[in-house]
Amino acid sequence: MYSKHLIGGAIFAAATILAGAAGAQTIGFSQVGSEGDWRPAFSANMQETAKEYGVDLKFANAQGKQEEQLRAVRAFIAQGVNAIVIAPVVVTGWDQVLREAKEAKIPVFLVDRDVDVADKSLYVTRISADFNLEGKLAGAWLAAASKGTCKVVELQGTVGSAPAIERKKGFEAVIGDFPAMEIVATQSGDFTTEGGKKVMEAFIKSTNNLDGVCASFAHNDNMQLGAIQAMKEAGLTPGKDVLMVSVDYVPAIKEALAAGAANASVELRSAVGGFIYPVILDYLKSPTELPKWIVIPSDLHTAN
Ligand code: AHR
Repeated sequence: MYSKHLIGGAIFAAATILAGAAGAQTIGFSQVGSEGDWRPAFSANMQETAKEYGVDLKFANAQGKQEEQLRAVRAFIAQGVNAIVIAPVVVTGWDQVLREAKEAKIPVFLVDRDVDVADKSLYVTRISADFNLEGKLAGAWLAAASKGTCKVVELQGTVGSAPAIERKKGFEAVIGDFPAMEIVATQSGDFTTEGGKKVMEAFIKSTNNLDGVCASFAHNDNMQLGAIQAMKEAGLTPGKDVLMVSVDYVPAIKEALAAGAANASVELRSAVGGFIYPVILDYLKSPTELPKWIVIPSDLHTAN
């Protein structure tokens, strides 16, 4: 039985050997899209590690569209794959297609993002980071860095997606304990650099050059990188005039941290195929009830 938190590599390695002995498995993976830098890194890792685990991976990129995901999942069902993996674009709208997979006796595993379904038996487990915790880590860092006094502009991820919902909730839960901390503007930049740049340009206009704004909290690094560009173009100094905290810890934000243009980023691990496949292969070898959530840890990184 898996614990709620990620279990040691030894157990996974043993599970993999057992699963490998059962022969190659075909797994259909419906991925969100290719937005930002984190997502393509995650896709590449899932494709590379599939080979290591002897998995025949059918990879479908939904380009950010849920209807594409529904189409892909139905195609996987028609092909009779051994398991289906979904990183859902948004949390709603999954009940029917998950019922179809269950009727076809194909187990479904959620990775990265969550779904909002009443019947949790429609999927085996979700293997992912805790987005709410990520928002809390960002909020706690900012509360300490600003000594509990801070007006924040927030760049939200894709509307209706689990990371946008949960990171906001977690962040708000923490800053809610500080009477002098508040979000003064919030808008979705859809997890992209271009979206983040546009949103920050709008904030710069609506707040008279971020007058009185102490921090930018972005639900991912790419939006923050776009925000950094917009601020520089407006003659502002991100990382100094305004504290910059975001999520993912991609290479470009590491550079921004080193250069002082960003201050903190919560790491969302992208090289997680080595955690995901053993869980699925073990389950296919010997189906057993798993906890509904297997959590991948998240850590906060700062410039120094
Ligand atoms: O679901 C995880 C989020 O999706 C990542 O933080 C973001 O970069 C991606 O688009």
